[in-house]
Amino acid sequence: MEPSKEYVFKYKGVYFGVNTSPEYVATLEDFEIKDSDIFITTYPKSGTVWTQNILSLIIHEGHRNGTENVKTIDRIPWLEYNIQNADYAALPLPRVFATHLPYYLVPRDLRKKRGRIIYVSRNPKDVMVSYYHFSKFFPIAEEVPDFNLFMERFLAGKVAPSSWLDHVTGWYSHAEDFNILFLTYEEMKKDLRSAVLKICSFIGKELSEEEVDSVVRQATFESMREDHRANYKDLPGGLVPKNDGRFLRKGTVGDWKNIMTVAQSERFDEVLKEKMKTLPIKFTWDINDEM
Ligand code: A3P
Repeated sequence: MEPSKEYVFKYKGVYFGVNTSPEYVATLEDFEIKDSDIFITTYPKSGTVWTQNILSLIIHEGHRNGTENVKTIDRIPWLEYNIQNADYAALPLPRVFATHLPYYLVPRDLRKKRGRIIYVSRNPKDVMVSYYHFSKFFPIAEEVPDFNLFMERFLAGKVAPSSWLDHVTGWYSHAEDFNILFLTYEEMKKDLRSAVLKICSFIGKELSEEEVDSVVRQATFESMREDHRANYKDLPGGLVPKNDGRFLRKGTVGDWKNIMTVAQSERFDEVLKEKMKTLPIKFTWDINDEM
């Protein structure tokens, strides 16, 4: 079953949500990069908002010490979904953007190693389950109530931004073209402090021990759930969540086991696991697994 045109369109082989347009996405290849720019790049449901919050806390002292009350989405907007109609050229430096674009649609200058990319990936079963719940909550995502049907769509890449495997493989196999740091959701979950330090080092930001502690404290799932700047309780662009859902839902590793049957898990493995062997990362499928 194809996704409904009411919710997605296709541009150069990739599905996009309708809160942007093919014309706008086409302009992004020429988007002017500043050397200090940072792009948080992900397949949806892989920890984007978490990483946005971490970057905002690292860069903005006023966020870290609570003296400024700016929503993360306003500090770190979406590149291809400019919901707020913000003037991206006027953002303070370093500018940070979030994007779900595949490697071949991002601003051309990034390929000249200008700017920095932080690519976060997550084990695809948790991505899929998180996405399924998200589609019931996010007002402009197509709700597919039947989980099995959603899984088939996910496996066939018939969700925005198309195939999970193509996205991750594309970015990993073109890593040499970019100035890029790879992180996984699971390593962030296991050792948030180390992930914060990796990010600081990658963007060249020195923080004191206390400042790092403060970032880590405010970037945990529990803290973010309480932080209205970070938890998407008020969705951007005046969007109202469906079904009283919460963006910060479970925030764990291995939640897929609570919804997928053995047969569904096997079907998933049959389609993806063999192909995933070519990826240079080993995903953690359960919170208790060794990393
Ligand atoms: P779940 O639905 O499994 O809870 P994205 O921001 O890329 O859309 O990813 C959303 C997922 O990241 C959701 O997963 C959300 O709960 C989780 N998440 C957000 N902040 C988190 C945090 N501080 N710690 C752990 N998970 C977090």
